[in-house]
Amino acid sequence: MTRSMFIKVIGAGAGGGLPQWNCNGQNSADARHGVPTVTPRTQASVAVSADGRQWVLLNASPDLRQQINATPELHPDREGPPRNSPIKAVVLTNGDVDAVAGLLCLRESQPLTVYGSARVLDVLAGNSIFEVLNADLVKRKTMELGQSFAVEGPSGPVGLTIDAFTVPGKIPLYLEDEEKGTGGSFGTEEGDTVGLKVTEDASGKHFFFIPGCSGLDDPLRERLNGAPLLFFDGTLYTNDEMIVQGLMQKTGDRIGHMNMSGPKGTLEQMAPLDIARKIFIHINNSNPVLRDDSPERAAVEAAGWEVSYDGMEVRL
Ligand code: MLT
Ligand code: MN
Repeated sequence: MTRSMFIKVIGAGAGGGLPQWNCNGQNSADARHGVPTVTPRTQASVAVSADGRQWVLLNASPDLRQQINATPELHPDREGPPRNSPIKAVVLTNGDVDAVAGLLCLRESQPLTVYGSARVLDVLAGNSIFEVLNADLVKRKTMELGQSFAVEGPSGPVGLTIDAFTVPGKIPLYLEDEEKGTGGSFGTEEGDTVGLKVTEDASGKHFFFIPGCSGLDDPLRERLNGAPLLFFDGTLYTNDEMIVQGLMQKTGDRIGHMNMSGPKGTLEQMAPLDIARKIFIHINNSNPVLRDDSPERAAVEAAGWEVSYDGMEVRL
């Protein structure tokens, strides 16, 4: 049998999900009321496994309990001890609420490993509520940027190697400090937003997971060129769409995400790159690509992109 990695999108939405609890925008309202062309999405997270038994979560969204319940691969083994879980590790790409709050769902004395950059682990260390993850059982390990590491669960390596690298981005919303940094950086530092290259040890197959990214710089271009599979930040279609829809007075640029459209947008910027499969994730509830029949959905598909959904399975 040819080996292949198991990759499952357990949440495709951005912060707030679709529908968002307090949002009466067109997408949220339609998703809430069962319009068949607007499928609800929970907040962004991907589960990955080399063997189909031991799983690693890429980010832990506030919807994690619901996501685990909806994903048979993540259920306890019925033949196993009274408490068990196939989730062996969580790897964090940033400290935003939608990336880390799900850790609190993993608090029932279950051994696992949590990986994050020094910056992101500082966020956890600075919030004592995360101490609910008993440090005797839940190990926190710092990912050194640019240095690959074998992902380890409580009983050893799980057959995946990860490379974490810094990408253009922004400090979490709740840590923004107007006085800090220059040019609207709000105190952003290296390691606040990282991308992941996930490699299966047995086959050498790999993919990239970059759910948050504010721009495509040359190092990132070089890294992604030739990639077999990419999950990428699909927050907004148009820079000002949240303003136009009356949802929030902020642009995509301001919240630290690339937009899909426009000259600086992902479609145009990535077009010259050779990437075999390109999938948008972390898609905000304002984004028209969430409507199966929208012209914007047709445009991203024509540009070779897929729009992920909860439960999407990808094999490499
Ligand atoms: C983001 O992706 O920009 C954040 O999730 C925003 C937020 O924390 O709501
Ligand atoms: Mn987010």
